[in-house]
Amino acid sequence: MRVYVLNGPNLGRLGTRQPEVYGTTTYADLVELCQRTGRELGLEVVVRQTDAEHELLGWLHEAADLGAAVVLNPAAWSHYSVAVRDACALLRAPLVEVHISNIHAREPFRHQSVVSAVATGVICGLGVDGYRLALHHLAARHR
Ligand code: DQA
Repeated sequence: MRVYVLNGPNLGRLGTRQPEVYGTTTYADLVELCQRTGRELGLEVVVRQTDAEHELLGWLHEAADLGAAVVLNPAAWSHYSVAVRDACALLRAPLVEVHISNIHAREPFRHQSVVSAVATGVICGLGVDGYRLALHHLAARHR
Protein backbone atom coordinates (compact mmCIF):
# COMPACT_ATOMS: atom_id res chain seq x y z
CA MET A 1 0.00 0.00 0.00
CA ARG A 2 1.28 3.45 -0.92
CA VAL A 3 1.05 6.21 1.71
CA TYR A 4 1.79 9.87 1.06
CA VAL A 5 3.26 11.74 4.05
CA LEU A 6 2.74 15.39 3.12
CA ASN A 7 4.04 18.40 5.02
CA GLY A 8 3.09 22.04 4.66
CA PRO A 9 4.95 25.31 5.10
CA ASN A 10 7.99 25.77 7.31
CA LEU A 11 8.20 22.09 8.24
CA GLY A 12 11.37 21.82 6.14
CA ARG A 13 12.92 23.91 8.93
CA LEU A 14 12.30 21.30 11.63
CA GLY A 15 15.24 20.95 13.98
CA THR A 16 16.05 24.65 14.10
CA ARG A 17 12.49 26.04 13.98
CA GLN A 18 11.26 26.87 17.52
CA PRO A 19 12.79 23.69 19.03
CA GLU A 20 10.96 24.40 22.30
CA VAL A 21 7.69 23.86 20.38
CA TYR A 22 8.62 21.39 17.63
CA GLY A 23 11.62 19.55 19.13
CA THR A 24 15.08 19.03 17.68
CA THR A 25 14.33 16.30 15.15
CA THR A 26 15.33 17.65 11.73
CA TYR A 27 13.20 17.32 8.61
CA ALA A 28 15.78 14.84 7.25
CA ASP A 29 15.36 12.79 10.47
CA LEU A 30 11.58 12.91 10.03
CA VAL A 31 11.86 11.62 6.45
CA GLU A 32 14.11 8.80 7.70
CA LEU A 33 11.68 7.97 10.55
CA CYS A 34 8.74 7.73 8.13
CA GLN A 35 10.67 5.65 5.59
CA ARG A 36 12.01 3.29 8.27
CA THR A 37 8.53 2.87 9.75
CA GLY A 38 7.15 2.24 6.27
CA ARG A 39 9.74 -0.48 5.62
CA GLU A 40 8.91 -2.15 8.97
CA LEU A 41 5.21 -2.12 8.13
CA GLY A 42 5.54 -3.09 4.47
CA LEU A 43 4.19 0.26 3.27
CA GLU A 44 5.48 2.24 0.32
CA VAL A 45 5.94 5.63 1.97
CA VAL A 46 6.45 8.81 -0.06
CA VAL A 47 7.47 11.83 2.07
CA ARG A 48 7.24 15.39 0.74
CA GLN A 49 7.28 18.97 2.05
CA THR A 50 6.34 22.22 0.37
CA ASP A 51 5.98 25.91 1.11
CA ALA A 52 3.78 26.37 -1.99
CA GLU A 53 0.07 25.69 -1.52
CA HIS A 54 -0.57 24.77 -5.17
CA GLU A 55 2.10 22.07 -4.90
CA LEU A 56 0.37 20.46 -1.91
CA LEU A 57 -2.95 20.62 -3.77
CA GLY A 58 -1.34 18.78 -6.70
CA TRP A 59 0.01 16.04 -4.40
CA LEU A 60 -3.41 15.62 -2.76
CA HIS A 61 -5.00 15.31 -6.22
CA GLU A 62 -2.37 12.67 -7.08
CA ALA A 63 -3.21 10.73 -3.88
CA ALA A 64 -6.92 11.01 -4.68
CA ASP A 65 -6.39 9.70 -8.23
CA LEU A 66 -4.33 6.75 -6.96
CA GLY A 67 -6.67 6.01 -4.03
CA ALA A 68 -3.64 6.37 -1.72
CA ALA A 69 -3.81 6.98 2.03
CA VAL A 70 -2.37 10.25 3.33
CA VAL A 71 -0.67 11.43 6.52
CA LEU A 72 -0.88 15.22 6.36
CA ASN A 73 0.60 17.95 8.48
CA PRO A 74 -0.96 20.99 6.81
CA ALA A 75 1.01 23.28 9.20
CA ALA A 76 -0.27 26.90 9.06
CA TRP A 77 -2.67 26.03 6.19
CA SER A 78 -4.62 23.90 8.70
CA HIS A 79 -6.05 27.02 10.20
CA TYR A 80 -7.40 28.79 7.11
CA SER A 81 -6.97 26.99 3.79
CA VAL A 82 -10.36 25.98 2.42
CA ALA A 83 -8.49 24.92 -0.75
CA VAL A 84 -6.43 22.35 1.21
CA ARG A 85 -9.56 21.12 2.99
CA ASP A 86 -11.43 20.76 -0.31
CA ALA A 87 -8.54 18.78 -1.82
CA CYS A 88 -8.55 16.54 1.29
CA ALA A 89 -12.27 15.96 0.79
CA LEU A 90 -11.43 14.40 -2.61
CA LEU A 91 -9.37 11.61 -1.02
CA ARG A 92 -10.86 8.14 -1.20
CA ALA A 93 -8.51 6.37 1.27
CA PRO A 94 -8.01 7.32 4.96
CA LEU A 95 -6.44 10.66 5.87
CA VAL A 96 -4.64 11.13 9.19
CA GLU A 97 -3.97 14.76 10.10
CA VAL A 98 -0.86 15.17 12.25
CA HIS A 99 0.38 18.13 14.27
CA ILE A 100 3.67 17.90 16.12
CA SER A 101 2.56 20.38 18.78
CA ASN A 102 -0.71 20.38 20.72
CA ILE A 103 -2.51 23.07 18.72
CA HIS A 104 -5.24 23.25 21.40
CA ALA A 105 -2.76 24.35 24.04
CA ARG A 106 -1.37 27.18 21.89
CA GLU A 107 -2.64 30.52 20.55
CA PRO A 108 -6.43 30.63 19.96
CA PHE A 109 -5.97 30.99 16.16
CA ARG A 110 -4.39 27.52 16.14
CA HIS A 111 -7.24 25.82 18.00
CA GLN A 112 -9.27 25.25 14.86
CA SER A 113 -8.21 23.19 11.85
CA VAL A 114 -10.43 23.46 8.78
CA VAL A 115 -9.01 20.11 7.66
CA SER A 116 -10.04 18.03 10.71
CA ALA A 117 -13.69 17.64 9.70
CA VAL A 118 -12.67 15.85 6.50
CA ALA A 119 -9.87 13.79 8.12
CA THR A 120 -10.37 10.21 9.24
CA GLY A 121 -8.59 11.09 12.48
CA VAL A 122 -6.23 13.61 14.04
CA ILE A 123 -3.05 13.15 16.10
CA CYS A 124 -1.63 16.22 17.78
CA GLY A 125 0.80 17.06 20.53
CA LEU A 126 2.82 13.82 20.44
CA GLY A 127 5.80 15.31 18.64
CA VAL A 128 7.16 13.61 15.52
CA ASP A 129 6.04 10.28 17.02
CA GLY A 130 2.60 11.25 15.69
CA TYR A 131 3.80 10.39 12.16
CA ARG A 132 4.97 6.93 13.27
CA LEU A 133 1.65 6.30 15.03
CA ALA A 134 -0.30 7.48 11.98
CA LEU A 135 1.58 5.01 9.75
CA HIS A 136 0.95 2.18 12.25
CA HIS A 137 -2.75 3.01 12.22
CA LEU A 138 -2.94 3.01 8.42
CA ALA A 139 -1.09 -0.31 8.21
CA ALA A 140 -3.34 -1.94 10.85
CA ARG A 141 -6.46 -0.58 9.17
CA HIS A 142 -5.41 -1.94 5.81
CA ARG A 143 -4.90 -5.50 7.11
C1 DQA B 1 1.82 22.53 13.25
C2 DQA B 1 1.00 23.52 14.09
C3 DQA B 1 0.60 24.73 13.25
O1 DQA B 1 -0.16 25.63 14.03
C4 DQA B 1 1.84 25.44 12.75
O2 DQA B 1 1.46 26.52 11.90
C5 DQA B 1 2.80 24.54 12.09
C6 DQA B 1 3.02 23.20 12.62
C7 DQA B 1 2.37 21.37 14.13
O3 DQA B 1 2.86 20.42 13.53
O4 DQA B 1 2.35 21.45 15.35
O5 DQA B 1 3.50 24.95 11.15
O6 DQA B 1 1.00 21.97 12.26
